[in-house]
Amino acid sequence: MDFKLTEEHIMIRDAARDFAKTELLPGVIERDEKQEFPKELVKKMGDLGFLGMMASPEYGGGGMDTISYILAMEELSKIDASASVMVSVNNSLVCWGLDTFGNEEQKKKYLSKLTTGEKLGAFCLSEPEAGSDATSQKTTAIDKGDHYVLNGTKNWITNGSSADYFLVIAQTDKEKKHKGINAFIVEKGWEGFEIGPKEQKLGIRGSDTHSLNFNDVKVPKENRIGEDGFGFKFAMKTLSGGRIGIAAQALGIASGAYELAKDYSKQRKAFGTEICNHQAIAFKLADMHTQIEAARHMVMRAAWDKDQGNNYDLSGAMAKLHASQTAMDVTVEAVQVHGGNGYVKEYHVERLMRDAKITQIYEGTSEIQKIVISRSILKD
Ligand code: CAA
Repeated sequence: MDFKLTEEHIMIRDAARDFAKTELLPGVIERDEKQEFPKELVKKMGDLGFLGMMASPEYGGGGMDTISYILAMEELSKIDASASVMVSVNNSLVCWGLDTFGNEEQKKKYLSKLTTGEKLGAFCLSEPEAGSDATSQKTTAIDKGDHYVLNGTKNWITNGSSADYFLVIAQTDKEKKHKGINAFIVEKGWEGFEIGPKEQKLGIRGSDTHSLNFNDVKVPKENRIGEDGFGFKFAMKTLSGGRIGIAAQALGIASGAYELAKDYSKQRKAFGTEICNHQAIAFKLADMHTQIEAARHMVMRAAWDKDQGNNYDLSGAMAKLHASQTAMDVTVEAVQVHGGNGYVKEYHVERLMRDAKITQIYEGTSEIQKIVISRSILKD
């Protein structure tokens, strides 16, 4: 068993670390306050290759493995989880989904622009009444011969207003239940496609989350992904990989908060010594570090499974479950280590604590991960 990263992995991790410190850190508090993420930073992430890391080089992607991707995700998330969720959705859900299941024309037309940052993608599965229960899609796409007519509402869509291309999951034949679901590529600006108001969120406030309305939107038949009825499997397979990316985001939030708490504890003095010399603090740091390292091993294992061509539904769900709990536990403790300063924005840990919560909710809540895990371990 070899735990060593390759030189290429280290290079990618260091490039992401450097970008996060020099480009993301300076405005992160302001972006959180104002709930906005500047387009120039998306462009810079595209120029550096962070938006299409695993996609095929012939469509502008980096052709990298999943380990490289999660190393970058961790580094970006240590500083700015709003930036990293954009990266995650574009890489694991949109680019990977199109690269793996799209046809040649779709890849040429859409994927090649999404990998470079020229265009940004969004993944639209959740609905007001179909978040966890993904088969209960109310959005419909009615077959009209050479096109479909799309109607419905999608909720909590990451990159909702900044995306250009949207992968939309919709019911095409209610009788067939999940086998009557399809996935479509929809472009911003098409007639009848409206972007709803921005959600006011607890965390990841720099990422734009919107509801989307589709009112008789004409979607050309060539924009359906895969065979008729493939949409639900498309969503499930794509989300399985997406969960590894979000697990890496959770790992990054946790390790970012831990590093801040450790540094702070070596500087801050109380009762005549640096607070790290008190066991009350040292033991907290020991617990945080141990939990993070366990999460890291699980995230790496899931990424490795994906790279090896193994099934990663189970390892990905377990990694997300554990890493997101770690993000919550560690960020709460990081605030505690900082005492009163932990409650103040300029120390960053309160933001990381707010950001951590979403990792237990999106791309499947912790309860959904337990459904996936328990079904997998009980099936034999
Ligand atoms: N890969 C391939 N196929 C899969 C699959 C997978 N991982 N999981 C399920 N399927 C298939 C099953 O094999 C089955 O197919 P057959 O009938 O041919 O056998 C079919 O899909 C239906 O499966 P289930 O009976 O297991 O479906 P279910 O209704 O019980 O639901 C679930 C399963 C796991 C709970 C699923 O609904 C689920 O994952 N829900 C959560 C959805 C989710 O993650 N939403 C997040 C939205 S996206 C987001 O958050 C992005 C963002 O903005 C950051």
